[in-house]
Amino acid sequence: MGEVNLLARLPGVHRNIAKRHEAQSPENIAIARQYGETYFDGPRELGYGGYRYDGRWLPVAEDIVRHFGLKAGDRLLDVGCAKGFLAKDLRQVCPGLEVIGLDVSEYALTRGAPEVRGRLVRGSAEALPFPDGSFSAVVSLNTIHNLARADAVRAVREVERLAPGRGFIQVDSYRTPAQRDVFLSWVLTAKFHDYPEGWLALFREAGYTGDWYWTILE
Ligand SMILES: C[S@@+](CC[C@H](N)C(=O)[O-])C[C@H]1O[C@@H](n2cnc3c(N)ncnc32)[C@H](O)[C@@H]1O
Repeated sequence: MGEVNLLARLPGVHRNIAKRHEAQSPENIAIARQYGETYFDGPRELGYGGYRYDGRWLPVAEDIVRHFGLKAGDRLLDVGCAKGFLAKDLRQVCPGLEVIGLDVSEYALTRGAPEVRGRLVRGSAEALPFPDGSFSAVVSLNTIHNLARADAVRAVREVERLAPGRGFIQVDSYRTPAQRDVFLSWVLTAKFHDYPEGWLALFREAGYTGDWYWTILE
């Protein structure tokens, strides 16, 4: 169990922090937290500004497959899969891998990659509808910080329950007060965030024995 940057090869994105900061009203935060059309495909100030497939997850999929030694017949769950782009790319780089995606957003799941549409299920991270130990690996990227702390603990516990010691969780964090300020000027949906030590305490509380990494805005 440890810190490993499995998103190292994900291309960087441009962020207009000042423009986003102007849009951080309680009304806009409430709209973003609906995870509907506005969040995924509306203006950039209110979310992704267009969540479209461009192949950016392919190198990440390769690194996930290599990290967990995944092969045909293995089962991987992506918690917070959005439109299933990573799920699609995992199947491309590891033919025969059974990939399931779970997300709370009906909008994203029904507009996802056609190749994985039947493999995407609606649900919430703190109560995953699968039996204990039923996956070879579980990943959750940029999702668990969207839960309040108590639910985040439950969500991490769920990752561990489905794939003991074979999880990978990436969440929003910051290592310095300056990074924290940038994060606070950007964030719309996160309900819990902390320095790495705070997250590590949460992981311990959940009995988590998998791997993790941080999304840190500069
Ligand atoms: C920042 S996006 C990350 C999407 C994708 N994993 C990525 O890294 O591009 C956060 C995702 O978490 C989903 N989400 C938010 N709350 C959730 C919950 N309680 N359970 C499952 N998914 C949730 C949203 O619908 C959205 O797809």
